[in-house]
Amino acid sequence: MPPPPPPATPPQASLPGQAPLPGTGSISLRQPDDWHVHLRDGAMLEAVVGATARQFRRAIVMPNLQPPITTVAAARAYGGRIRRALPPGSSFEPLLTAYLTDSIDPREVEAGFREGVWVAAKLYPARATTNAEAGVSDPLAITAVLEAMERIGMPLLIHGEVTDPAIDIFDREAVFIERHLAPLLQRHPGLKVVLEHITTSDAVEFVRSGPPQLAATITPHHLHINRNAMFQGGLKPDFYCLPVAKRELHRLALRAAATSGDPRFFLGTDSAPHGRSAKESACGCAGIFNAPYAIESYAAVFEQEGALQRLEGFASEFGPRFYGLPLNTARITLERQPHAVEPRLALADAAGAPVALVPFHAGETLAWRLVC
Ligand code: NCD
Ligand code: ZN
Repeated sequence: MPPPPPPATPPQASLPGQAPLPGTGSISLRQPDDWHVHLRDGAMLEAVVGATARQFRRAIVMPNLQPPITTVAAARAYGGRIRRALPPGSSFEPLLTAYLTDSIDPREVEAGFREGVWVAAKLYPARATTNAEAGVSDPLAITAVLEAMERIGMPLLIHGEVTDPAIDIFDREAVFIERHLAPLLQRHPGLKVVLEHITTSDAVEFVRSGPPQLAATITPHHLHINRNAMFQGGLKPDFYCLPVAKRELHRLALRAAATSGDPRFFLGTDSAPHGRSAKESACGCAGIFNAPYAIESYAAVFEQEGALQRLEGFASEFGPRFYGLPLNTARITLERQPHAVEPRLALADAAGAPVALVPFHAGETLAWRLVC
């Protein structure tokens, strides 16, 4: 006898907050946004922007290009390049950011915000990460900029790591919070701040007990891996990113925060592609390319934590509310459709030249798939 036909997919769990039936089904979500992504420039931009635009309606685009985006004119031009690199018909909207330096003029930061060219400014401690050489030597050096931002309601996005070589790399986030972030919030009580890509229970606790204008983004990779992933069976550069993944206890704290329904924690992938030669190198670059399956990756975590009903808040609501932007009205559908993630993606730039990238979850099976 032929096996009975599989049960029909149950009606979509399309009401916000409604979980799908265990083992079956689909999830309908308000379309998410990515509140922290690296889209790069040139051939890499052309190769990767489609992956982000397929999943997300908007994204906060990091300004750490070479040279960094420090002027309104540079941001305007970069926005144009992003739009031209988008697949035809895409409604994706890049939300640009200013790169803060010790010498950036507060009037330039304010002008770009008022003109709607950028929506936030990024503080990289000098030399903390990729293309952060021109970053800020000390937050005190940009007090006038922060005062202007506080006055006009412009969010400050922070890469929260000290660069002091005497501080153990796994402690750099916690020490940044104590040395720099806590005093900065005291000095600027009205400033909206996002602590980006948090990686520690220290950051979770700090944000949870902080003022309402403080929030944090959480990446998919910090929810899935701890620091062992970089060393399991040999050196694994595709799991190296900054801030570096920490101990298991920190991963568990991040999972609890992301799935808690607390609106101060929201989605930011920190998808950060680097070519193979930059990853497989004696001085390999930090960054994980997770854009192609980002929402599927988050869905896996929320399902494992029994919190699928809270995915929509984290992915699609808390971010826009923090930034004071409208919620998206379009919806996306995830189906339970286990699929193996390609070991390598054969992407291409606009001229068709190949750009090979290893996606996060390469070689693993993801249970959910974005279908539209
Ligand atoms: C980012 C990059 O490559 O631009 N790398 C990373 O590991 N996350 C920079 C950053 O966000 O630190
Ligand atoms: Zn980043």
